[in-house]
Amino acid sequence: MSDFGKVAVLFGGTSAEREVSLNSGSRVLAALQGQGIDAQAFDPAERPWAELKGYDRVFIALHGRPGEDGTVQGVLELMGIPYTGPGVLASALGMDKFRTKLMWQAAGLPVPAYALLTADSDFGDVEEALGLPLFVKPAREGSSIGVSKVCARGDLRTAYLEAARHDSLVMAEQGVLGGEYTVGILGDEALPIIKIEPATDFYDYEAKYLRNDTRYLCPCGLSAEKEAQIRQQALEAFRVVGGRGWGRVDFLMDEAGRHYFLEVNTSPGMTDHSLVPMAARAVGLDYPALVRRVLELAGND
Ligand SMILES: Nc1ncnc2c1ncn2[C@@H]1O[C@H](COP(=O)(O)OP(=O)(O)OP(=O)(O)O)[C@@H](O)[C@H]1O
Ligand SMILES: [Mg+2]
Repeated sequence: MSDFGKVAVLFGGTSAEREVSLNSGSRVLAALQGQGIDAQAFDPAERPWAELKGYDRVFIALHGRPGEDGTVQGVLELMGIPYTGPGVLASALGMDKFRTKLMWQAAGLPVPAYALLTADSDFGDVEEALGLPLFVKPAREGSSIGVSKVCARGDLRTAYLEAARHDSLVMAEQGVLGGEYTVGILGDEALPIIKIEPATDFYDYEAKYLRNDTRYLCPCGLSAEKEAQIRQQALEAFRVVGGRGWGRVDFLMDEAGRHYFLEVNTSPGMTDHSLVPMAARAVGLDYPALVRRVLELAGND
């Protein structure tokens, strides 16, 4: 009944976000199968890539490294199998928050002030330059793993050490505290903006996946004009990194109402707490229809 042929849903994997991916992927799989699509689970932690031979299309529901970072996309390019989401370059760039920022700055898009940290950094200087509170994060991790908020002078070193456990590339970023938002991207369209109001201090792992008291507002409360402007810019931000198919662009607002792009996700979450499904619902696309649309948009570089 579908012309998608044999579809592999990649989920699980070996990244730090394996649990989230298991959750995303099992729902995606059920939604595809529920529409009569010949979809099968494929956990790369358990099977060699070569076993993808014979599949006509791949739905990537892996998060983090490897999976969201261009490596898996490269394998699929070599095998000639169309896959969902952005290609090799955009996936690799999107995984690296530092280099995403460099691209956005070059394109004139607003980003929070930041500094790269090493074990030899003068942590006091960085605290001074960026101001407090500031955020420290591994540049190539996800799901808020290793992210901390530094509120007191002298705490930056500990936050650095925590982030450095997850990645050799660590960055500190000026805290932007007027609100957190996200824009889902589907094909050529930026979906309605969602405002995220965590009950925790920031949108950490717990708030993302475990708690049920994070508030998601859609409509997000911005003026229609501001929302339209930011959606357009988010689409541009997605395209600047070479995005294709679908993704998510996150931004923060400061207390004066200025927005700053935070990061791009090239394999967004598809769990029951996830944001793109929520935004899609706001334009009348339910979960199965969204999954189908993402699969339709599959391609190669
Ligand atoms: N500069 C900042 N100002 C205010 N809050 C921030 C800042 N950087 C990060 N945060 C908070 O920390 C959370 C996690 O940071 P970030 O989005 O950069 O990484 P991540 O969520 O781990 O990555 P991914 O979304 O790819 O999974 C954000 O959702 C936000 O709540
Ligand atoms: Mg994030």
